[in-house]
Amino acid sequence: MFRPALRSAFSSLETPFYFYNMSLLHKTLDLYTSCLKKYGYHAHYALKANANDRILEAMKLAGLGADCVSGNEVVLALKSGFSPNKIVFAGVGKSDKEIQTALEGSIFCFNCESIPEIERINELAGGMGKVANISLRINPDIDAHTHKYISTGRAQDKFGISPWMFGEVWELLSRCLHVSLIGLHFHIGSQITDIQVFKTLCVRAHTLQKWFTDKGAHLQVVNLGGGLGVDYQDPLTHSIADFDSYFALIHQNLKPLSGQQVHFEPGRSLVAQSGFLISRVLYVKKGKGIKFAILDAGMNDLIRPALYGARHHIINLSSAGRMMRYDVVGPICESSDRFAKSVLLPEVKRGDFIAICSAGAYGQVMGLQYNLRDLAKTYYSDQLP
Ligand code: LLP
Repeated sequence: MFRPALRSAFSSLETPFYFYNMSLLHKTLDLYTSCLKKYGYHAHYALKANANDRILEAMKLAGLGADCVSGNEVVLALKSGFSPNKIVFAGVGKSDKEIQTALEGSIFCFNCESIPEIERINELAGGMGKVANISLRINPDIDAHTHKYISTGRAQDKFGISPWMFGEVWELLSRCLHVSLIGLHFHIGSQITDIQVFKTLCVRAHTLQKWFTDKGAHLQVVNLGGGLGVDYQDPLTHSIADFDSYFALIHQNLKPLSGQQVHFEPGRSLVAQSGFLISRVLYVKKGKGIKFAILDAGMNDLIRPALYGARHHIINLSSAGRMMRYDVVGPICESSDRFAKSVLLPEVKRGDFIAICSAGAYGQVMGLQYNLRDLAKTYYSDQLP
C-alpha cells in the first residue's frame, strides 16, 4: 500500500494530514453495491462517518442515498446532488429549524425517535401544507456487544421508541394528518463484529413489525441501520468488511413483507479502511520503562483512541529497523492524547512518517481545533500534488 513513490510524494507535504486510498474506496463500494443488487436491497450512506466532498461524490456515484443526522448534513447531501427521495434524517433531537430544512428539501423520510418529535413534525409539516413520510425508529432492546458509547439499541439507551409505547404512538398517528407512516427503522450500534447480533435484530424486527401490520399499517420500508464493524487490528489484510456474510445472514433471517423495501445505513464499513492519518514524529523521548514517540498529530485530529479507548493499527512508514516498544502520543496537554500504549514499531526517529490506519470513518469528521491547532488537510491517492 505505502510504496516508495507514495512515501516520496508525502515528503513534500505538511503533516498531519488525512490520506484516502481512492482505489480501495471504489473497490469497497463495488463489493457493497454488488451485494445490494444481489438481494434487491437499498442503502443510504451515513454522512456522519465522513462528509468530505470526494467521499460523498463516490457514494452518490455508487447509487447510494444519504443518511443524515443534522440539518446541516441534510443541506450538504442536497448540495452534493443526492436526490431528495434518497435522503433520510435520523436523530433523537431534531430542532424546528432542522425539521423545516428537511421539509423544505422534500426528503424521503424522517426516522422518528419519540412521541413529541412526531407531534412537532406533524405541526411543522401542517404549517407548510405538507405531509412528511416518517419511519419509527424502534428500540428493540438488543445488546450489540460493542463499546458502551456506541451501543444504541438497548432499553436503557436514549434512542428509539420502545415497544411499550406502541399503543400511544398508534393513537397519535391516527390524529396526525401531516405525517405518513411508511416503515420501521432500527440502528442498534456501531462497530459490531459479532454478526449474529444482526440475526437477533431480524427476528425481533418481524415481531415488532407484526404489531403494526396487525393494526393495518402499510410498512413499505424496513430499515436495519448501519453498524457492521471493520478490522482495526489487521486493516491491511482485512481491508474490506465481510459484506458477503453480513448480507447472506440478513437474507436468511429477514423475511420482508410483500413488496417491502429493505434499507441499510452503512457508514464505517464503507470508509474506515480507506483513510489514514499521516503524521511525522516530532521527538522520541525516554519515559519510565518506555519510549514516547511524540507525533505532530494529536487527539484533536483523531479522537477515537482518547474517547473510546479505540486501538488503531500504526505503521512506521520510514523505518525497517529493529522492533522496539513505544507509547505513541500526540502533542496536546492531556494524558489521554495517546494513540497507542506499548506498541511494537520499527525503531522510530525524528522525522519518520507514521500512518494511523482505519481512520477514514469518524476520524476527520470528528476533528477539532482544540489548542487552536490547525485542522488536518486532506489528500486523495488519485490527486497527490
Ligand atoms: N444510522 C444511524 C442512525 C446511526 O446513528 C449511525 C451511527 C449509522 C447509521 C452508521 O453506523 P456505522 O455503519 O458507521 O456503524 N463515533 C463513533 C461511531 C458513532 C456511530 C453513531 N451512529 C466511533 O468513532 O466509533
